[in-house]
Amino acid sequence: MCGIVGVIGKEDTTEILLNGLEKLAYRGYDSAGIYVNSQSGRDYLVKEPGKISVLKAAVGPEVQGTIGVGHTRWATHGVASQANAHPHVSEDGRFYLVHNGVLTNYAELRATYLSQVNFASETDTEVAVQLIAYLAKTEQLSAKEAFRKALTLIEGSYAFVMIDRNDPETLYVAKNKSPLLIGVGADFNVVCSDALAMLNETKDFIEIHDREMVTLKKDKVEIEDLDGTFIHRDSYHVDMDASAAGKGTYPHYMLKEVDEQPAVMRRLLTEYVDDAGQMKIDPAILKAIDDADRIYIVAAGTSYHAGLIGQSLFEKLAEKPVEVHVASEFGYHMPILSKKPFFIFLTQSGETADSRQVLVQTNRLGYPSLTITNSQGSTLSREANYTLLLHAGPEIAVASTKAYTAQIAVELFLAVALGRHTAIKAAQDFDVNHELALVATGMETLLSEKQAIEDFTTMYLKTTRNAFYIGRGEDYALSLEAALKLKEISYIQAEGFAAGELKHGTIALIEDGTPVMAFLTDAKTIDHTRGNLQEVRARGAKTLTIVSEDHAQAGDQVVLPNVNPLLAPLLGIIPGQLIAYYASLQRGYDVDQPRNLAKSVTVE
Ligand code: F6R
Repeated sequence: MCGIVGVIGKEDTTEILLNGLEKLAYRGYDSAGIYVNSQSGRDYLVKEPGKISVLKAAVGPEVQGTIGVGHTRWATHGVASQANAHPHVSEDGRFYLVHNGVLTNYAELRATYLSQVNFASETDTEVAVQLIAYLAKTEQLSAKEAFRKALTLIEGSYAFVMIDRNDPETLYVAKNKSPLLIGVGADFNVVCSDALAMLNETKDFIEIHDREMVTLKKDKVEIEDLDGTFIHRDSYHVDMDASAAGKGTYPHYMLKEVDEQPAVMRRLLTEYVDDAGQMKIDPAILKAIDDADRIYIVAAGTSYHAGLIGQSLFEKLAEKPVEVHVASEFGYHMPILSKKPFFIFLTQSGETADSRQVLVQTNRLGYPSLTITNSQGSTLSREANYTLLLHAGPEIAVASTKAYTAQIAVELFLAVALGRHTAIKAAQDFDVNHELALVATGMETLLSEKQAIEDFTTMYLKTTRNAFYIGRGEDYALSLEAALKLKEISYIQAEGFAAGELKHGTIALIEDGTPVMAFLTDAKTIDHTRGNLQEVRARGAKTLTIVSEDHAQAGDQVVLPNVNPLLAPLLGIIPGQLIAYYASLQRGYDVDQPRNLAKSVTVE
């Protein structure tokens, strides 16, 4: 969380920083700030609590320079205030620093080195910048050596970019466990947490690895480890149009991303399946999973929910036993593992700290792993043995939508490929091209019927205090995801519940007008769930049925076009996403940037 940008060698530094921060707002939006230096004695520090629009309004026309850093914050240490906003500045006014991550030994560093310093904020970051200034002064170190020495003392996760006011021709950059990239230009260079932020400036980027530092001039990129050994690393080209990260004519990113799902399904088919229906997946991945006796899917939030759907795909199409775990629990309470586990990390961002700490452990234990991610070159992708990409395009809205359905589709491809590899009939008979094309068309049908969803939402969710989604089997997994969407952007206390469990206690919460929405796609259990709907209606609930066409009855409200039952969740989630979107809009909230959240959660 937190987004960082830096620029050196450009006349329009302020504009580039502000535009870049807007692109990174998905990483946090509690406060934002920039420091810009004109290299002729004039420099400017502007920082404000609130969203980037507040910062933009505070940046006057005089704020111009040729070097600068910017930051958008998701608060960890200290409230979202002007004092706690980045950049932070050393007491002597010399060093300006932005930081993404959490410094675990900041209290010790402060007590050991900085007891005489007057701190202006409550952040761990300020300890870092004060420490650099302290080392420069007391040990007579150059900015670079003070920066290096501080890095050897600091523990925790960080992406840092620093400017020395005495020498505003250099950006000092370093990273450990938090993402950061160098963007390379002609007589300028940039630095950013995510390439998206700088695609208007360059498409050529260089990775920085953990515990490396970079000295960045407008015409030079010098990467070295903390011992001073220089490292040569080639740049790579990001083949993405900057407009892919824009909203276009949509009012919100979320709506755009929901609408993009049919196109993502089709794009994934071209990436993973050839015209003859053969899967394009590295045989080494299939062999590694085949050699294992159990798949462990580890993920957080929406990705965890996609893992639950994946479980039934792997079990039904490849007959492989699967366990699905919440990363933050699994890492610290690891169950007794099977003899030959294979780990799949599902992570849209590829940066989630909870998932990463599990990967660090499984790597240490020597277990093979695969990361399924939307972010090429991300930390989890680099650190796992194998990667499969989601090809969903940038997902900017905090509520994940197209990445969820893309994760399910990629799990499907892998399950089919694995099943065929091990001669499982269900996989051999599964016509992926046909089935996923039907899903894409079905999604389009549902997306063309938004009005009915909006009407239901206006009637029952605009003012409700709580709401339920219910279902059994995959419909239960779908309920968890639909409820999470509703919670995070509409702030309705929503629960995804196993339909049969309601009567064992939770039904006490149903009162007059409580919305209860049921997924009915699992043939085996539809009648039972319909029975549960009767029970809640008898207690005053207002119900919505989301049902597969084959099983629809008179009075059902949302009918999902028929697709292979294994893929019904890909359609079922569309009304769930739209209900959350309209509920958020109708209740007057910020759909794309809900309170307290950030998209890339790089703290545990
Ligand atoms: C919810 C959402 C989160 C993420 C979770 C894991 O809409 O996006 O629940 O799914 O933070 O993130 P990734 O997939 O990046 O590991």
